[in-house]
Amino acid sequence: MLLRANNHALLELFLRLPAAYRAHSENVARYCCAMMSVIHRSSQVIEPVNFSAVHHACWLHDIGKALISEAIINKPGSLDEAERMVIEEHPRFGVKILKDCAASTGMTYSKENWGVVAAVVYNHHERWDGRGYPDGLQEDEIPLVARVCCIADAYDAITSERPYSKAASKEKALEIINECAGAQFDPWLVEILMVDTFWANAARRFRKEMN
Ligand SMILES: [Fe+2]
Repeated sequence: MLLRANNHALLELFLRLPAAYRAHSENVARYCCAMMSVIHRSSQVIEPVNFSAVHHACWLHDIGKALISEAIINKPGSLDEAERMVIEEHPRFGVKILKDCAASTGMTYSKENWGVVAAVVYNHHERWDGRGYPDGLQEDEIPLVARVCCIADAYDAITSERPYSKAASKEKALEIINECAGAQFDPWLVEILMVDTFWANAARRFRKEMN
């Protein structure tokens, strides 16, 4: 795992996130790696996937929430406009945290690893239709790994028990993701992931390999 063991500042911030978020981050990391494996195998994506960087990036995708008050993070009902605006800052906060940790601890990412980490942390709430945040990027403007992380994020959210909703089945999650293809999600990626659902089981293997 990139930097995980030796960056105490980052680990400390990660541990500030509520336990449910930490578990979610681990799940998103392994789902995203498994999805990237399927996409790489099934498509014209020729560049080799740096699974270690992808896993690390997804593990940290919500690290920006460590700077947001628990009252907002754990609010059971819907957020008001001001609270929503704060939450939508978490991708920017995340990149700031990583840069601050790098400056204060001497931690350095290679250019390639930073590209993956920054893409995921900053862009994982962008939507295919341009209605996401923080920049409202659309379609291929959004880095591929962030588009995949977005699907992994949704899949784990749907299939996990939440304070406000019960865990849905894997089949229901796939149905919902498929319905959102072309709106929230990249339709090309969704098509690949619907045809080859190997990733849903392979995700377990990534948990063992990356931890
Ligand atoms: Fe997020």
